[in-house]
Amino acid sequence: MRHLLPLCLLCFLHSANALRFPIHARSASTSSSRLTRRANNDTLLNVKNTQNSEYITNITLGGREIPVLLDTGSSDLWVAGDVPDSTDLGVSESLSYAVGDAAGDINTATLQFGNYTVENQAFLLVKNTSSFSINIETEGFDGLIGLGPNTGSVIRDKLGDSKGDSVLDRIFQQNASSANYMTILLNRLDDPTSPSTGQMSISEIVPGYENITSMPKLSVEMVHKLTDLDQHWQTYTDVNGVIGPDGNPIEVESIVPSAPDGQLVVVFDSGYTLPQVPRAMSDAIYGRVQGAEYNSEQGFWTIPCAQMLNISFKFGGVDYPISPLDTSSSEFDVVNSAGDPVCVGAFQPISSAFSLLGEYDIILGMSFMRNVYALFDYGDFVEDTSTDLGSPFIQLLSTTNVAAAHAAFVSVRLNGVDTTGAASQALLPVSEEQHSPETEAEKKAQ
Ligand SMILES: *[C@@H]1O[C@H](CO)[C@@H](O)[C@H](O)[C@H]1NC(C)=O
Ligand SMILES: *[C@@H]1O[C@H](CO)[C@@H](O)[C@H](O)[C@H]1NC(C)=O
Ligand SMILES: *[C@@H]1O[C@H](CO)[C@@H](O)[C@H](O)[C@H]1NC(C)=O
Ligand SMILES: *[C@@H]1O[C@H](CO)[C@@H](O)[C@H](O)[C@H]1NC(C)=O
Ligand SMILES: *[C@@H]1O[C@H](CO)[C@@H](O)[C@H](O)[C@H]1NC(C)=O
Ligand SMILES: *[C@@H]1O[C@H](CO)[C@@H](O)[C@H](O)[C@H]1NC(C)=O
Ligand SMILES: *[C@@H]1O[C@H](CO)[C@@H](O)[C@H](O)[C@H]1NC(C)=O
Repeated sequence: MRHLLPLCLLCFLHSANALRFPIHARSASTSSSRLTRRANNDTLLNVKNTQNSEYITNITLGGREIPVLLDTGSSDLWVAGDVPDSTDLGVSESLSYAVGDAAGDINTATLQFGNYTVENQAFLLVKNTSSFSINIETEGFDGLIGLGPNTGSVIRDKLGDSKGDSVLDRIFQQNASSANYMTILLNRLDDPTSPSTGQMSISEIVPGYENITSMPKLSVEMVHKLTDLDQHWQTYTDVNGVIGPDGNPIEVESIVPSAPDGQLVVVFDSGYTLPQVPRAMSDAIYGRVQGAEYNSEQGFWTIPCAQMLNISFKFGGVDYPISPLDTSSSEFDVVNSAGDPVCVGAFQPISSAFSLLGEYDIILGMSFMRNVYALFDYGDFVEDTSTDLGSPFIQLLSTTNVAAAHAAFVSVRLNGVDTTGAASQALLPVSEEQHSPETEAEKKAQ
């Protein structure tokens, strides 16, 4: 069977309108992190941040240390190159990613992830990455670890039994009395208010973020799947759950047939660089900015980098503000029609194939994930576990303080001079909002 495209780490390179160009950070610092290891025996992993576009951690497979991308949007492990002490199961598989197909044989080897050791972990060994449109090694990684639900694992589906279970599923199965959750904290480069390093943890909370356990438990929507492989970390926004730059809710109807009135289905995906939102929502965020232009070739809005835009999302009655440093991204070398460098409207019109099938409305990628500490509880997604058989849920703790984020924006984008109140920064009236054109694929889907 031909698999649908996983919501993958590199999907920012994929789309109906092929968002595809090399990313160059403007800043000198291309990576951060390196953390003193904590002197305990739990599992806190450092996450390296490459240009706010790739979040990478180390695993050890068959004795080889391998940097892998963290991807909550897919559920399989693949690595490139050679893995010592690996057993080839002689079953070939191909995982489609934006940058090309990760194809090879399913292998098993001993995996170490943090303090956990898993024998015979199944993974896809990709010997030939020449079809990839980027050189992953120079990007700083050699594979990808999918942290999505086990039901979404293509390898498990192919092997047809628990031999193919995903990494976290195997870890959770090892100790039936520990809680089945994983947490992720992504940092933002060049922002003094952001944590200095990203972290990932398994079955424990990153110190300092304990309050997350009292945040609302957002139930994971299991609705409207085409196949089991489509299960993702998805939930509903609140009614009027997306607040635009003018402080008013952005009203957009869900394309998901079963969604309750006024709520939208979102997928949390650490693998997407730019979040994807309904086209009308992206237009509402950026279309009233003076000097905004829609870049049809790339499928996103561009705006002056000095424009501060506040938006926020609401889940479980809690407001999650987005740092204005994330609402527009300065990480891309993009110019407007006048040839001036501009910033990219990070919440771009959705183009994922899944969205056209009516499975969800929004993919909240890194530009959202940097604003929260996120806990993913796998609950009964995990088989063979005795104590944590509840329904899966997500908890989010805001890490963005609006006033501090404003100050950081002024310091990073405006050289310390707060011009955000200038007339040139005022939003145009609603009647003058610009709208981006629908793509051919969207017209067809309608
Ligand atoms: C952590 O280590 C301590 C002492 O080495 C041990 O008693 C405890 O059981 C360990 N905890 C876990 C979760 O492994
Ligand atoms: C867990 O990992 C940490 C960091 O690698 C290490 O210092 C510690 O000794 C390990 N604990 C156990 C029980 O393996
Ligand atoms: C992964 O391991 C390499 C080599 O030991 C090290 O340089 C790098 O900092 C590690 N990355 C992370 C995110 O810990
Ligand atoms: C790798 O794959 C490409 C096509 O994607 C093929 O042209 C090339 O021969 C392959 N290389 C090896 C060593 O198999
Ligand atoms: C299993 O998890 C429980 C709860 O976290 C912990 O107390 C126990 O030490 C763990 N057992 C092993 C064998 O790691
Ligand atoms: C955690 O929550 C408590 C109670 O709501 C609050 O007093 C405290 O400031 C919070 N701590 C952090 C670090 O947010
Ligand atoms: C964004 O929020 C900050 C803090 O509340 C406020 O100072 C600023 O005026 C807001 N900016 C816009 C463009 O709404």
